[in-house]
Formats: sequence, C-alpha cells, structure tokens
Amino acid sequence: MSKFFSGSAVIAAAFALVSCANSSPAEKTTLSLSETAQSHSNQTVWEKFDMQRCVNMGNSFEVPRKQRENGGGRIDKEDFALIKSKGFDTIRLPVKWSDYTGPAPDFTLDPTFSNTVKAYVDEALSQNLNVILNIHHFDEINETPAAEMDRLVSIWKQVGALFKGYPDDLWFETLNEPNNQLKGDIMRQSQALAIKAIRIHHPDRIVILGGEFWSNWRQLDTNMVAPDSNIVFTFHYYEPFDFTHYKAEWTKPDMPNTLRSWGNQTDKAELAEAMSGIKRYKVKTGQPLFLGEFGVYTSIKNEDRVKWVDAVRREMEAAEIPWCLWAYANTFPIYNYESGKWDKDMLDALGLE
Ligand code: GLC
Repeated sequence: MSKFFSGSAVIAAAFALVSCANSSPAEKTTLSLSETAQSHSNQTVWEKFDMQRCVNMGNSFEVPRKQRENGGGRIDKEDFALIKSKGFDTIRLPVKWSDYTGPAPDFTLDPTFSNTVKAYVDEALSQNLNVILNIHHFDEINETPAAEMDRLVSIWKQVGALFKGYPDDLWFETLNEPNNQLKGDIMRQSQALAIKAIRIHHPDRIVILGGEFWSNWRQLDTNMVAPDSNIVFTFHYYEPFDFTHYKAEWTKPDMPNTLRSWGNQTDKAELAEAMSGIKRYKVKTGQPLFLGEFGVYTSIKNEDRVKWVDAVRREMEAAEIPWCLWAYANTFPIYNYESGKWDKDMLDALGLE
C-alpha cells in the first residue's frame, strides 16, 4: 500500500498557543544553554510548547546520503534568521540518521554528519527558533520493524547524548510518518523504546509522537498513551491527496494526474470532519497537538495552493493547533534560493508578511 492509497480508492491523506510564560525571546538570548534549560524545568508542557508557526526544512538533512554527498540537500545557516524575520517561531528539521549509522551492535553515527546537524540546530536556537528534530525516512523500520528496533534505540541514545543539556526549545520527534509494517503494537513499542532512550539524558524534554499510516489524522488514536507529561502529539494533513500531490513524482505509481481545484462544499466538509476528529483527540489526551506537515505541490495553480493553505491554516489556528508548513525551499517551496524571494501569496495565506 502506498502513502495515500488503498487499492484504487483515494484515502484522504494525512501525513503534523501557548507562550513561554516567564521568558521573552529577548531574555532567552541572554541565558547560557544550561541556565535556560534550568529556567524551564518547572514549566508545564503547555508552557514549554510555545509554538504557533513553523516551517519544515524539507529536503535538506533527510535526503539520501549519496545525494547530500553529491551536493544535494541545500540548507544555509542564514536561512534561520530569514525565517525568524518572517514571523515563524519554530523550524522542523527532518534528518535521515539511518543513512549515517555504522554496523550493529553499536550503530555508531557518523561524527561529521552529527556535528553538522548540531551546528545547524545551534544556529536555529540562537535565532530564538524552537527546533523540532526528528528521524526521517528511516525506511527499513517501516518494512521490518522488529529487526530495526535496536538501531532506532541506538540512534536516539546517540542523538540524546549529542544534545545533552540543551535548552527546552529543542524538541525530539521519535519518527516521521510510521507506515507499512510499523503499526499497532510494534509501532507503539517503537515509540516507548525511543522515549526511554531519549529520557536517559532528557528527563523533561518535549518528545513528539505521530501515529501509524503516515501520521494521518485518522490514525491519531494509534499513538501510545503519553507515558509522562512532556509528550506532544502530531499529525500530517494533505487532504485531498489527489489535489495536494497532483503529479508528485515521489508518489508513483499512485501519482494523481487529474488536475482539480479546491474549495467546493465536499472539500470544505472534508476539512470540517478532520477538524472535529483532531479536536476530539486533543481533548481526549489533554496533551498539546500540532500539525507537523501540510502543503500543496507546485503542479497546482498557485491561487489554488494558496486557497487551501489559507483555509487549513485558519481552521488550525481557530482550534489552537500550531502548524508546520511543508516546506521551506524544496518540494512545496515557500522560499526560492535562486531568486532570494519568498512566495508572497503563500506568506499571506499563512498570516505572515
Ligand atoms: C513526507 C515525506 C517527504 C515528502 C512530504 C510531502 O514528509 O517524508 O519526503 O516530500 O511528505 O509528500
């Protein structure tokens, strides 16, 4: 089964406000990393999860290793100041750690890669952005979960050690979009083991969990019950998939190829249905919940892309669900590296300038 389709039927797909009570952004810069970490330790998860508007640094550290080594996966340290200046408060940094592990049983992470990721995290934090760091495109664990569990745990132990003592503005997301065989009990087991590995060095850090079937909102209930109070849940929203992923090559062989627009009554009813399910889950868990990915491929007319992003963003904000656009400069870009220009209509749709 592919990312969004079951048989011939379109599965409406889904792939992910509070303020930081006693520290304004200006104050945060004046504290050292350990002081900041300490100053946050008594806050609730709702206070620590001070996120409203986020952008995914898509197609940078999560591209295949070979592609990065051949010059792909562009990301610049200057991006973060630019992102902050537009009004985003958070970035999500997807990382394909699984391409940088050594052999079992240690699965030692390549230190050059780890230190590069760390330097980018440092830069984003120094711009007063919250950073969501995940494991992205760990494809093998979706195919053979039991065989890959030790590697998952080892990655989180090493990443946990790498960021020991970091401020509470760094959040860990255990795994992007569990899918394929990674579902049900074994998916929940992967969440529990990842949290345990993270908690060795990060007893109070926010850990983010997304459910099975690509973290579709309909699968929110597949998440494990929060094992401690510093858990945040996430879901992804790309519905209707034949609209958001029209001609998206990476969804072959199910690439939708009928051009359509968005915004009729059926479309709006679908969004309303999603919102009621999402709100229900937030109330049920009592934990923060956010939209970790949403966006529309550039094959769709920009005015339709903008219309959808505007509608989804407004619904999320009305429900106090923070959001994270996919993505910054690639796949569904809002910023163009070549021209140095932002997509102004898309910024507008996000309520930014
Ligand atoms: C998921 C995939 C990413 C893709 C995006 C939009 O995050 O991991 O590669 O670009 O969804 O389909």
